[in-house]
Amino acid sequence: MRVLVTGGAGYIGSHTLLELMAQGHEVCVVDNFSNSSPVVLDRVRSLSNGTVISVEADIRDRAALDDVMDSFAPEAVIHFAGLKAVGESAVKPIDYYDVNITGTLCLLAAMDRVGCTRIIFSSSATVYGEPVYLPYDEAHPLAPTSVYGRTKLMAEEIMTDWTSARPEASAVLLRYFNPVGAHPSAQIGEDPSDIPNNLMPFIAQVAVGKRPHLSIFGDDYDTPDGTGLRDYIHVIDLARAHVAALDYAARTTGARPFNIGTGQSYSVRDMVAAFARAAGRDIPVQIAPRRAGDIAAMQADATRAATELGWRATHDLDDMTASTWAWQSANLDGYGTH
Ligand code: NAD
Ligand code: UD1
Repeated sequence: MRVLVTGGAGYIGSHTLLELMAQGHEVCVVDNFSNSSPVVLDRVRSLSNGTVISVEADIRDRAALDDVMDSFAPEAVIHFAGLKAVGESAVKPIDYYDVNITGTLCLLAAMDRVGCTRIIFSSSATVYGEPVYLPYDEAHPLAPTSVYGRTKLMAEEIMTDWTSARPEASAVLLRYFNPVGAHPSAQIGEDPSDIPNNLMPFIAQVAVGKRPHLSIFGDDYDTPDGTGLRDYIHVIDLARAHVAALDYAARTTGARPFNIGTGQSYSVRDMVAAFARAAGRDIPVQIAPRRAGDIAAMQADATRAATELGWRATHDLDDMTASTWAWQSANLDGYGTH
């Protein structure tokens, strides 16, 4: 299939490009490189030995999108492009609504113009908010607690309304849990531009000596070791979920959400111990106050993805930490472009 990938130079997008190409799909990336670098696409090209068409453009640029739709004529779109930092979304809400909502509207309008009827969307488990029960299934109430989370829920609703108006259209809403890990080549991985907000890239930077210690945000949660529990998913498994979603979109219509997680959860201390094993060195930690907005635990019920997409995660915790360590230790400054 010809697949247009918005945000394809980003962390999850770059890994997904390789999985798509490995399955024989043709790809075209639209990215404004606001949180990535063209270097990523060069690495994807050399790892795949394939063609990655890339267009530097903002997804809110209607004329640029129309040009790409006309020249590439995609049969499906995977929509990664967006802003994703929860804390920043409270400070810059208009930017978040503009990129994540206006951007999605521009994309759907451009798809409509050329009759492209399949979209796979990067949603997030954050749409559920404070757990009413765990594991979350897709029927769990939706009550995001951040601007970022609300943009994801609104984008899901927009795509759902779009499919209601277009009986032939399909929108696959992938609610990611906590993506971690890197490509086995150690040539592509997560490269935060600033101090990492998320746990795994922070631990990785402590392990290579870029930061003195990890602050554990709270050890008094109602969990077995007092630290937060999350459902971490290897980015390669996540990338493969998009390939499965494309097949699903080709044989179904309507909008459907899917949890993309492993169904297992690990604590912050579990992650630190697993990383120390992978790196063969200690990870110094300090206990810090709880982070505002954090919840004690989250975990996916990923049954629907298994039964309907035919997808399930195959990488375990050691694969996640070992691949992150291999990437970070081989690329101390990531892609070296910040
Ligand atoms: P990322 O920042 O690495 O990738 C996003 C890409 O989109 C970047 O290459 C960036 O340059 C591009 N982009 C941003 N704004 C753009 C615009 N206006 N026009 C064109 N390109 C633009 O992020 P990621 O971790 O790969 O996440 C991809 C998607 O998955 C995002 O939508 C994010 O909200 C969602 N998501 C991520 C996580 C996570 O933990 N990483 C979890 C749940 C959902
Ligand atoms: C965060 C976002 C969430 C987003 C997800 C994936 C918040 C409140 N939530 O989730 O919306 O979908 O990332 O990108 O930002 N931790 C530490 N020390 C650190 C960093 C994290 O102890 O330096 C702990 C956290 O308290 C949490 C766990 O590690 O218990 C995971 O944190 P993180 O990687 O930021 O992911 P989430 O908080 O689950």
